[in-house]
Amino acid sequence: MKQALTVPKIKAMKQAGKPIAMLTAYDYPSAMLAEEAGVDIILVGDSLGNVVLGYDTTVPVTLEDMIYHTRAVVRGAPGTMVVTDMPFATYRLGPEETLRNAARLMREGGAHAVKMEGGADLADEIRRLTLSGIPVIGHLGLTPQSVHQIGGYRVQGKDRKDAEKLLEDAKALEQAGVFGIVLELVTEPVAAAVTKSVNVPTIGIGAGRSCDGQVLVYHDLLRYGSGIRDKRFVKTYADVGATIRQAISEYVTEVKSQAFPEEKHGFPLDEASAKEPVTSVRLYGGEAP
Ligand code: KIV
Repeated sequence: MKQALTVPKIKAMKQAGKPIAMLTAYDYPSAMLAEEAGVDIILVGDSLGNVVLGYDTTVPVTLEDMIYHTRAVVRGAPGTMVVTDMPFATYRLGPEETLRNAARLMREGGAHAVKMEGGADLADEIRRLTLSGIPVIGHLGLTPQSVHQIGGYRVQGKDRKDAEKLLEDAKALEQAGVFGIVLELVTEPVAAAVTKSVNVPTIGIGAGRSCDGQVLVYHDLLRYGSGIRDKRFVKTYADVGATIRQAISEYVTEVKSQAFPEEKHGFPLDEASAKEPVTSVRLYGGEAP
C-alpha cells in the first residue's frame, strides 16, 4: 500500500526542488480518486462549506462538519497525508482551546495535520500545537474566513506595505513551527519573494508559478457542480458537471419512455419456478391467489 508522506518528507521536497501537488477532497470517493491519481497532500478544506454544503462563505462550517468529512477522506485515502482546515473561530480563543479543537480533528477525524488562516497573530497557537505533536500549515494572502472583514475575495500583496506584511507573517509562521504555508490569491512577485524567504514549502492557489507546490479545489479542477464560476487561477481539467448532468438527463428520459430498465436489468425466477405461472407461485409464504 502507498505510504502517506510525512512532515520531514514534505519539507525535504522544497530543498530537492520537487513540486508538491495538493488537492482538496471532502468525501470517500473523491479522496480515493485523489490518492489513486498520486496527489501528495489531501486538504479537507473548509471550502467544503461552499462546494459541498451550499453556503455562501466558509464561516458557517463547524468543527463537527470537518471531523465528519475528514473521517470519510481518511477512509478513502489511507496512504496519503490528510490536512484538515480548522474552521472559523475554532483557533481564536487562545492556545488551549485551539489545542482542544485541533486534537479532535486528529483523534476523531484522523487528520495528520491542521491548517489555519492568519499570520504573526497566531504564533502562540501554532507553538502550542507543534509542541504537542500537531503539525500545522499556515495560510496567508486571501483568508476566506475573514471575507466579511476584508470585504470580498481580493488579490493580496499588490503594494509594498502589503508585500512587507506578507513577508513578515510568513517568517513569523515559520518561526512558530509551521511545516508549510498556503498562499492564496497573492501577486506572483510577492509569492516568489515569500517562497525565497522561508525554508518551509509554500503551496499556492492563485499565487503564480514560483511556489513550491500548488493546491486547487476538487470541484473547480473538475467543474463538478452547477454554476461553477470561471476563475483566472483555476485550470479546468475535466467538465464532470456536464457529464453528470447529461447522464442524469438520459436516465430521466429513459425512465419516462420506459427504455430503462430492460430485461437484462431484472432478475428471473429459478428454473423450476419459472415453469409455473407466477400467479401460482407462493413467493412470500402467503396463499397463492
Ligand atoms: O478551504 C480550502 O479549500 C482552502 C484552499 C483554497 C487552500 O483553504
